[in-house]
Amino acid sequence: MTRNTIKHIEKKFVSKEKLVVISAYSKLMAELADDHADIILVGDSLGMVLYGMESTLPVDLNLMIQHGVAVVKASRKSLIVVDMPFATYQINEELAFKHAAEIIQKTGAGAVKLEGGVELKDTISFLSKRGIAVMGHIGLMPQYVNQLGGYKIQGKDKISAAKIVQDAVAIAEAGAFALVIEGVKADVVKKVKQKVKIPLIGIGASKDCDGQVLVANDLLGLSESVPKFVKKYKNLREEVRDAFADYASEVKAEQFPDSEHIYK
Ligand code: KIV
Repeated sequence: MTRNTIKHIEKKFVSKEKLVVISAYSKLMAELADDHADIILVGDSLGMVLYGMESTLPVDLNLMIQHGVAVVKASRKSLIVVDMPFATYQINEELAFKHAAEIIQKTGAGAVKLEGGVELKDTISFLSKRGIAVMGHIGLMPQYVNQLGGYKIQGKDKISAAKIVQDAVAIAEAGAFALVIEGVKADVVKKVKQKVKIPLIGIGASKDCDGQVLVANDLLGLSESVPKFVKKYKNLREEVRDAFADYASEVKAEQFPDSEHIYK
């Protein structure tokens, strides 16, 4: 089986097939998601989801590389995109290239993702002209949480909606192969779609996007609380808790191990 490249993604986009993106960070999740995803995103949301951080801001390059290696190794088909952590691409274009190249070289991922709009146009252009496939991320950008004042829907008034459209145009012109658009209403997505001819991957956006992304733990119902836009396809948190409770009570009651689960 050959692994998806950005060419596969472009082809699906041109033929109007919806793109499936799953944010997953571990060997287990990558193995289970691989057959169903076009792209597995090793998102920096792992800081909060796996490590209990308050935001994605403390996530560093080594952590992303470590999880990127696990996901690439555990998958065969999906294009793997690794998030560039906060402060690894904002200083200047050369440092952004150095860090993006380190992610690609050490993990074997096919692309990196970074958050930002017009202000990152030159950086994305620098990376994509030098062989790095880049996915953009606009709208609600979790790395900007301190400026945004929380994880709030974006583009609610005319000025901020126009800014999101400008951001999208800038990122597409700079050479990004796809764009995550997070936490915006359907009318803003429509405006962006009129101007931008690269795949738009929505999260808390609208079904008009060319694809959707959700965090694996959220859609599986493993996360304690999830934003309103997340649909839980399972309630694994409860199932896992029940399994642990059953195990604990059987150990205490000396019902486990039974004769089937010991070496004779
Ligand atoms: O970090 C992440 O998982 C993401 C997706 C939710 C888009 O950026």
